[in-house]
Amino acid sequence: MTSTDPSARAVIDIVIGTRPEAIKMAPVILELRRRSDFTVRVVSTGQHTDMMRQALGFFSIAPDVDLGIMKRVQSLDYITSSVLTGAGELFDANPPNAVLVHGDTTTTFAASLAAFHRHIPVGHVEAGLRSFDMRLPFPEEMNRVLTDRLAKWLFAPTDQAASNIAREGVMSGAGVYVTGNTVIDALFAALQTVKKRGAPDIPGLEGGSPFILMTAHRRESWGEPMNRICRALLELLTRHEDYMALVPMHKNPLVRDAMRAALGGNKRIVLCEPLDYPDFVWALGGCKIILSDSGGVQEEASALGKPVVVLRDVTERPEAVERGTAILAGSNDARIVETADRLLSDEAEYSRIERRKEDNPFGDGRASIRIADILASAI
Ligand code: UD1
Ligand code: UDP
Repeated sequence: MTSTDPSARAVIDIVIGTRPEAIKMAPVILELRRRSDFTVRVVSTGQHTDMMRQALGFFSIAPDVDLGIMKRVQSLDYITSSVLTGAGELFDANPPNAVLVHGDTTTTFAASLAAFHRHIPVGHVEAGLRSFDMRLPFPEEMNRVLTDRLAKWLFAPTDQAASNIAREGVMSGAGVYVTGNTVIDALFAALQTVKKRGAPDIPGLEGGSPFILMTAHRRESWGEPMNRICRALLELLTRHEDYMALVPMHKNPLVRDAMRAALGGNKRIVLCEPLDYPDFVWALGGCKIILSDSGGVQEEASALGKPVVVLRDVTERPEAVERGTAILAGSNDARIVETADRLLSDEAEYSRIERRKEDNPFGDGRASIRIADILASAI
């Protein structure tokens, strides 16, 4: 529910569209709502439907407004134009004092542009991440750069992200703040729940079997790269006969069809629906290694000291690669197998990576408090 505290000085619209935005903005929403300074309106563009509601549900947050744009097949132009128009109409009908967006999705960029068109200041959470390759991840790298140029408050998760912004410059009057990544705030909340709930019941995942956790969904992975990623998983299971694999599938039909065709029917592979956030965090903690092309998973795994074989050629999270918790393998099946094989076989290397969790670069669980403090003195 929108806070209606009459003493609130300002209305902030928090615009989110996809699962990672929901998870990483939930702690910010909760923190801003805890304070009487702000009326917070949670605006879902509906770029994702059930995946986003599932993520918000864990935090007991429901959108106040839903633009409901999702279609079974949605082009980048469609998402951009419908979010731009929908958010613009909303801001015209009920102008907020500020808009907050997160990360690098098309929702993020289009909502920021709609706010900019109306001279409404934008706060960008998770600003400054760069892979320095506009094609990878696509279109996210461009979305980040454009959103940073449109923003007045740039909340960078790390020093490195802040220095990326410093090199490019910001619009006049804008400020850059290093806050940590709010994903760590969310992760800590989920870990509390995991502690209380214990292991979830995931049909097919036999208790006690060691397992590999895999997720893949990025546009660059669609088609042949996804087939190679699946082949690599099958080869790993052939080499490591005591292992199972847990694969929570993204809702995108292109991804699910490819995964079902390549991996379906194998009793040692559990293909399941997206897991509730704490259940997924349980899986991150419980698996031996992770194969993933996700951005957020690289940060969470790093905080948990769990090695991730990154199914991408470049990453905008170099901090995880520098610490050895993330290892870039791209979508080449031989390279994925070789990288994962080494992690599964070399105990000394594995323990070294595990110990790096003491030195997690992404945050201390207080990022949303810092962001709320900055906004409280700025608005
Ligand atoms: C989007 C973001 C990507 C982010 C990812 C997180 C863009 C261009 N892409 O990619 O940056 O990493 O979300 O997951 O902003 N679908 C459902 N139900 C859902 C969600 C998705 O059925 O709850 C299906 C729909 O058929 C939809 C398709 O998935 O058309 C693709 O969704 P879309 O948001 O276009 O792309 P993602 O790959 O999810
Ligand atoms: N996640 C989840 N359930 C799942 C798979 C992922 O809750 O079944 C969480 C995961 O912990 C991370 C986020 O979703 O916080 C990552 O989302 P996604 O991979 O969709 O997007 P990306 O991070 O690549 O932008």
